[in-house]
Amino acid sequence: MLKPTIEKALNNQIKIEAESSQAYLAMASWAETKGLGGTAQFLYQHAEEERMHMLKIVQYVNERGGKAIIPALAKPESQYKSLNQLFQTLLDHEVSVSNDINDVVEICLKEKDYTTHNFMQWYVAEQIEEEALARTIMDKLHLIGEDKGGLYLFDRDIETLTVQASNAPAK
Ligand code: FEO
Repeated sequence: MLKPTIEKALNNQIKIEAESSQAYLAMASWAETKGLGGTAQFLYQHAEEERMHMLKIVQYVNERGGKAIIPALAKPESQYKSLNQLFQTLLDHEVSVSNDINDVVEICLKEKDYTTHNFMQWYVAEQIEEEALARTIMDKLHLIGEDKGGLYLFDRDIETLTVQASNAPAK
Protein backbone atom coordinates (compact mmCIF):
# COMPACT_ATOMS: atom_id res chain seq x y z
CA MET A 1 0.00 0.00 0.00
CA LEU A 2 1.32 3.44 -0.91
CA LYS A 3 1.81 5.99 1.84
CA PRO A 4 -0.29 9.14 1.32
CA THR A 5 2.84 11.30 0.85
CA ILE A 6 4.08 9.00 -1.92
CA GLU A 7 0.66 8.82 -3.55
CA LYS A 8 0.47 12.63 -3.52
CA ALA A 9 3.97 12.99 -4.99
CA LEU A 10 3.21 10.47 -7.75
CA ASN A 11 -0.11 12.12 -8.58
CA ASN A 12 1.75 15.42 -8.86
CA GLN A 13 4.21 13.76 -11.25
CA ILE A 14 1.29 12.38 -13.30
CA LYS A 15 0.18 15.98 -13.81
CA ILE A 16 3.67 17.12 -14.75
CA GLU A 17 4.05 14.36 -17.36
CA ALA A 18 0.57 15.12 -18.75
CA GLU A 19 1.45 18.83 -18.97
CA SER A 20 4.69 17.92 -20.77
CA SER A 21 2.73 15.89 -23.30
CA GLN A 22 0.29 18.75 -23.91
CA ALA A 23 3.12 21.30 -24.18
CA TYR A 24 4.96 19.22 -26.81
CA LEU A 25 1.74 18.56 -28.69
CA ALA A 26 1.18 22.32 -28.95
CA MET A 27 4.80 22.75 -30.09
CA ALA A 28 4.30 20.04 -32.74
CA SER A 29 1.20 21.75 -34.03
CA TRP A 30 3.01 25.11 -34.21
CA ALA A 31 5.89 23.50 -36.14
CA GLU A 32 3.48 21.81 -38.53
CA THR A 33 1.77 25.10 -39.37
CA LYS A 34 5.21 26.64 -40.09
CA GLY A 35 6.02 23.96 -42.66
CA LEU A 36 8.54 22.28 -40.37
CA GLY A 37 7.32 18.74 -40.98
CA GLY A 38 10.33 16.91 -39.53
CA THR A 39 10.29 18.96 -36.36
CA ALA A 40 6.54 18.44 -36.05
CA GLN A 41 6.95 14.64 -36.29
CA PHE A 42 9.73 14.73 -33.71
CA LEU A 43 7.51 16.71 -31.31
CA TYR A 44 4.40 14.59 -31.93
CA GLN A 45 6.50 11.56 -31.04
CA HIS A 46 7.86 13.34 -27.96
CA ALA A 47 4.32 14.19 -26.85
CA GLU A 48 3.42 10.48 -27.15
CA GLU A 49 6.45 9.52 -25.03
CA GLU A 50 5.37 11.93 -22.30
CA ARG A 51 1.89 10.44 -22.37
CA MET A 52 3.50 7.03 -21.86
CA HIS A 53 5.51 8.46 -18.92
CA MET A 54 2.22 9.61 -17.40
CA LEU A 55 0.48 6.30 -18.05
CA LYS A 56 3.24 4.28 -16.38
CA ILE A 57 2.75 6.25 -13.15
CA VAL A 58 -1.06 6.04 -13.36
CA GLN A 59 -0.83 2.25 -13.58
CA TYR A 60 1.85 2.00 -10.89
CA VAL A 61 -0.22 4.04 -8.40
CA ASN A 62 -3.32 1.93 -9.01
CA GLU A 63 -1.40 -1.38 -8.87
CA ARG A 64 0.06 -0.40 -5.51
CA GLY A 65 -3.34 0.24 -3.97
CA GLY A 66 -3.42 4.01 -4.48
CA LYS A 67 -5.76 6.09 -6.62
CA ALA A 68 -4.31 7.78 -9.67
CA ILE A 69 -5.91 11.12 -10.42
CA ILE A 70 -6.23 12.23 -14.03
CA PRO A 71 -5.77 15.99 -13.80
CA ALA A 72 -7.24 19.00 -15.59
CA LEU A 73 -4.59 20.72 -17.67
CA ALA A 74 -3.92 24.37 -18.47
CA LYS A 75 -3.77 25.45 -22.11
CA PRO A 76 -0.13 25.16 -23.21
CA GLU A 77 1.86 27.90 -24.98
CA SER A 78 1.07 27.69 -28.69
CA GLN A 79 3.11 30.56 -30.16
CA TYR A 80 6.86 30.59 -30.69
CA LYS A 81 9.11 33.19 -32.30
CA SER A 82 11.56 30.65 -33.62
CA LEU A 83 12.76 27.06 -33.44
CA ASN A 84 15.46 28.29 -31.12
CA GLN A 85 12.92 29.68 -28.66
CA LEU A 86 10.82 26.52 -28.91
CA PHE A 87 13.68 24.13 -28.16
CA GLN A 88 15.07 26.38 -25.41
CA THR A 89 11.61 26.18 -23.79
CA LEU A 90 11.70 22.40 -24.21
CA LEU A 91 15.18 22.14 -22.64
CA ASP A 92 14.20 24.39 -19.71
CA HIS A 93 11.09 22.29 -19.24
CA GLU A 94 13.06 19.04 -19.15
CA VAL A 95 15.51 20.48 -16.60
CA SER A 96 12.54 21.43 -14.42
CA VAL A 97 11.03 17.93 -14.84
CA SER A 98 14.37 16.41 -13.75
CA ASN A 99 14.18 18.48 -10.56
CA ASP A 100 10.61 17.28 -10.00
CA ILE A 101 11.71 13.65 -10.46
CA ASN A 102 14.53 14.20 -7.97
CA ASP A 103 12.00 15.57 -5.48
CA VAL A 104 9.92 12.38 -5.80
CA VAL A 105 13.06 10.25 -5.31
CA GLU A 106 13.92 12.26 -2.19
CA ILE A 107 10.43 11.71 -0.74
CA CYS A 108 10.77 7.95 -1.44
CA LEU A 109 14.00 7.84 0.56
CA LYS A 110 12.52 9.88 3.39
CA GLU A 111 9.52 7.54 3.55
CA LYS A 112 11.71 4.43 3.09
CA ASP A 113 9.58 3.38 0.10
CA TYR A 114 12.27 1.48 -1.78
CA THR A 115 9.82 -0.07 -4.24
CA THR A 116 8.73 3.34 -5.54
CA HIS A 117 12.35 4.49 -5.35
CA ASN A 118 13.25 1.61 -7.65
CA PHE A 119 10.33 2.43 -9.98
CA MET A 120 11.50 6.05 -10.20
CA GLN A 121 15.00 5.09 -11.34
CA TRP A 122 13.64 4.57 -14.86
CA TYR A 123 12.57 8.23 -14.85
CA VAL A 124 15.96 9.37 -13.54
CA ALA A 125 17.68 7.62 -16.47
CA GLU A 126 15.09 8.91 -18.94
CA GLN A 127 15.66 12.51 -17.83
CA ILE A 128 19.42 12.23 -18.41
CA GLU A 129 18.69 11.12 -21.95
CA GLU A 130 16.01 13.73 -22.63
CA GLU A 131 18.13 16.60 -21.34
CA ALA A 132 21.10 15.39 -23.41
CA LEU A 133 18.96 15.21 -26.55
CA ALA A 134 17.53 18.72 -25.97
CA ARG A 135 21.07 20.09 -25.44
CA THR A 136 22.28 18.42 -28.66
CA ILE A 137 19.42 20.07 -30.53
CA MET A 138 20.22 23.49 -29.03
CA ASP A 139 23.90 23.09 -30.00
CA LYS A 140 22.86 22.35 -33.59
CA LEU A 141 20.50 25.34 -33.69
CA HIS A 142 23.23 27.63 -32.36
CA LEU A 143 25.55 26.42 -35.12
CA ILE A 144 22.91 27.02 -37.79
CA GLY A 145 21.98 30.51 -36.59
CA GLU A 146 19.84 32.29 -39.20
CA ASP A 147 21.02 30.14 -42.12
CA LYS A 148 17.89 29.03 -44.02
CA GLY A 149 19.64 26.09 -45.73
CA GLY A 150 20.86 24.90 -42.35
CA LEU A 151 17.34 25.09 -40.92
CA TYR A 152 16.04 23.09 -43.89
CA LEU A 153 18.59 20.34 -43.18
CA PHE A 154 17.87 20.50 -39.45
CA ASP A 155 14.16 19.93 -40.09
CA ARG A 156 14.94 17.11 -42.49
CA ASP A 157 17.36 15.36 -40.11
CA ILE A 158 15.79 15.87 -36.69
CA GLU A 159 13.86 12.62 -36.94
CA THR A 160 17.12 10.67 -37.06
CA LEU A 161 17.96 12.21 -33.68
CA THR A 162 14.80 10.57 -32.32
CA VAL A 163 15.87 7.22 -33.71
CA GLN A 164 19.36 7.54 -32.23
CA ALA A 165 17.90 8.54 -28.88
CA SER A 166 15.48 5.63 -28.76
CA ASN A 167 18.34 3.24 -29.50
CA ALA A 168 20.58 4.72 -26.83
CA PRO A 169 21.72 2.20 -24.21
CA ALA A 170 20.42 4.39 -21.33
CA LYS A 171 16.79 3.37 -22.09
FE1 FEO B 1 8.66 12.72 -18.97
FE2 FEO B 1 10.36 14.59 -20.63
O1 FEO B 1 9.74 14.15 -18.96
